[in-house]
Amino acid sequence: MEEDIKAVSDGTLSYRENRLFLEESSWEEIGERYGTPCYVYSQQAIVSRIKALQFAFKSFSPLLCYSIKANSNLSILRLMKRWGLGLDVVSEGELRRAKKAGFSGSKIVFAGAGKTPAEIKLAVRHKIFCFNVENEEELDYIEKYAAGEKWAVNCALRLNLDVDVKTHHYVKTAKKNTKFGLDLETAASVVARREKWRWAKITGIHFHLGSQIKEPSGYSQALAKVKDFCERSKFFPKILDIGGGFGIVYNPAERISPLSAFSEVICSSLKQWPSVFLILEPGRFLVGSGGFLLTRVLYVKKRGGKTFVIVDAAMNDLIRPSFYGSYHHIIPVRKKGSGQMMVDVVGPVCETGDYLAKERSIPGLLEPGDLVVVAGCGAYGFSMASNYNSRRRPCEVLVAGAKKYLIRKRESFQDLWRLEETGL
Ligand code: LLP
Repeated sequence: MEEDIKAVSDGTLSYRENRLFLEESSWEEIGERYGTPCYVYSQQAIVSRIKALQFAFKSFSPLLCYSIKANSNLSILRLMKRWGLGLDVVSEGELRRAKKAGFSGSKIVFAGAGKTPAEIKLAVRHKIFCFNVENEEELDYIEKYAAGEKWAVNCALRLNLDVDVKTHHYVKTAKKNTKFGLDLETAASVVARREKWRWAKITGIHFHLGSQIKEPSGYSQALAKVKDFCERSKFFPKILDIGGGFGIVYNPAERISPLSAFSEVICSSLKQWPSVFLILEPGRFLVGSGGFLLTRVLYVKKRGGKTFVIVDAAMNDLIRPSFYGSYHHIIPVRKKGSGQMMVDVVGPVCETGDYLAKERSIPGLLEPGDLVVVAGCGAYGFSMASNYNSRRRPCEVLVAGAKKYLIRKRESFQDLWRLEETGL
């Protein structure tokens, strides 16, 4: 059990006298001080992931552009900035967050299948490093605004390489039948006419295979296809952005290749391109395992041979189980009893699909009032939370050793209707 907990938390969770701690902080104290449900992040876990990634790819000194969509809290972004990372943004909101967190445009890449002209204009004004381009028409907009600013901007063509990776079909992004990128024929035609765009400089290639990728073979396939494309179209990119996607351990029983396996495959595929400027866009890998959702048991209901543990966090707080059927490890804050309970952990939202875990064997005994920690919530947890059922989104806390910082307050009830009109 202790090994499983280490595996899903990068070693930041541990029991001390039957009480769970995150780094040097007691979860009971966190629950007492901030209330539940509550997102909690471990600075140690995030920083050690950053260092591991920098080390694994050091022969290329890549620009690591943290993918904001995974977790866009400004304090998390500041942490990334402190460690020298850049950002991958996909909307005006994310671009504005990046600026708010103090990032220079020169470390920002802008991706997305549907960038609006206004977004492109703003990104050009901020002199971002590179656009990851998904349509030919997008180049025309970039050209127009870049010419207006008299500033040439890098553009990387996002290739749809038709590579299949083993992951949930909602987050596969490199198959032919998805909306992403330019097919190779169109890309070759754009490359052949690249002189047409004088300010939108086609200097790079981009791809993103998908998310929660469990082993590296998709990257070698993709890089072989990129190489072939470049040779055939006689285009030798200065910039190569290989997207995000490295998987993390959600379920201790599941095998995920270590980072070294990904970096070895990628670096050896890039041997012939020693001088290419490499960009990575990791999201989940950096923040996923260092984030947790703390929730309190409200009721335990036995029905038709099943036991439902009803907690105060719901699908609006963490949608991954309901939406993707994702596994998140559930860990009781107090070790009680020696047996196991087979339970469904469910929230208060009025949908049968509102669950955090199904038919899960949980060690010990869970009773009303007990706290439980849901692991693997640092990425696509808060950033996908909603106000469904008029529930306020949780607060967020950053833990560094024994120190705790409130990095986002719990929403107030007024926040729920702040933008609405009542005078009709
Ligand atoms: N770059 C691009 C162009 C992307 O679309 C994404 C994620 C990333 C980078 C970061 O990927 P990561 O390293 O985090 O795998 N909500 C889903 C994940 C959606 C990912 C969307 N794109 C989930 O909760 O599993």
